[in-house]
Amino acid sequence: MTDLRTDLEATRVGARERLAAADTADAVEALRHDLLGRSGTLTILLRGLGAAEPDERPALGKLANEVRLELESAIEERLSALRATDLDARLAAETMDMSAPGRAIRVGHLHPVLTTLRDLREIFHAYGFEVFEGPEIETEEYNFELLNIPPDHPARDLWDTLYVAEPGSVEAGDPRPAADGTILRTHTSPVQVRAMLELDAPIRVLTPGRCFRYEAVDASHASEFFQVEGLVVDRDTSLADLKGLLEEVARALYGRDVATRFRPGYYPFTEPSVAFDIGCLVCGGEGCPACKRSGWMTILGAGMIHPNVLRSGGFDPDEFQGYAFGMGPDRMTMLRHGIGDIRHFFSADLRFVTQFAEGR
Ligand code: PHE
Repeated sequence: MTDLRTDLEATRVGARERLAAADTADAVEALRHDLLGRSGTLTILLRGLGAAEPDERPALGKLANEVRLELESAIEERLSALRATDLDARLAAETMDMSAPGRAIRVGHLHPVLTTLRDLREIFHAYGFEVFEGPEIETEEYNFELLNIPPDHPARDLWDTLYVAEPGSVEAGDPRPAADGTILRTHTSPVQVRAMLELDAPIRVLTPGRCFRYEAVDASHASEFFQVEGLVVDRDTSLADLKGLLEEVARALYGRDVATRFRPGYYPFTEPSVAFDIGCLVCGGEGCPACKRSGWMTILGAGMIHPNVLRSGGFDPDEFQGYAFGMGPDRMTMLRHGIGDIRHFFSADLRFVTQFAEGR
């Protein structure tokens, strides 16, 4: 049975060589399988022991056992060495700096004018105002007539109106305003009448929304802009209430120390009418280009609701009074941030809008 001895020795030598050459854990595992698997070389040799001559069996058995133990432990050793270098290689290749700051997730934020609109809503909410919205596409009746501005009245010139064309008239080369008086609203005041027709007194509503005018566009005029209208209708309310409210709102928006003043104004739908100014935020009242050297900036128009407008809304002016005011949130936002040109608001230029990420 010297054959078995030779085979065992040959297997030992061959396995050692393959082991030395194996440079990955997978290669060693393959070797283990070839030697010690179910039909591995060594497994088959061990099975052949039973057929050996009885007197040679003890010595052969001893040798076989030695070879098996030796190869098993050599394989284990090689495997753990290779696993360690594999890990070192992986750690080196996949370096991860656990102290590096996380990558920020990009989130959107509000447009600065929308932030002003939300602030206004919140401030007025504290005074009991709720939001009441009306349509952007209006009729001349609501935009003018019901607001005490009859057709052909010169006061219409105060609002450069965009008319919706009569269907077919543009194609026919003869553009005419729509016969049903459809226009884009020039202010949010028509919602005064809509609110009065829909709600019962006492009314306290805030009407934010987009307005449109046929403007010569420049740094302070856009053909598309926002207004926020306020309307109060009650049995016992006065100009004093209006003044007190607006002064408080100005303080909430611009700080306790802001200077305020009322000036006479003119609107066909309020009587008396006022303009409300705050001390210039740029120069503090000294006079500068931003306030046209006056020291004051006008932030809204207001007044007591004209009796004819109360009637348009279904209220008897002998029983009810009310006041209304109209603010320009675009302009208010420009004052807040020192923005010099209203056209930025509609430019969709990210370099501009992303500066206001904090107003979330
Ligand atoms: N609607 C007016 C404008 O657009 C502003 C205003 C509103 C004035 C309410 C008085 C009362 O100029």
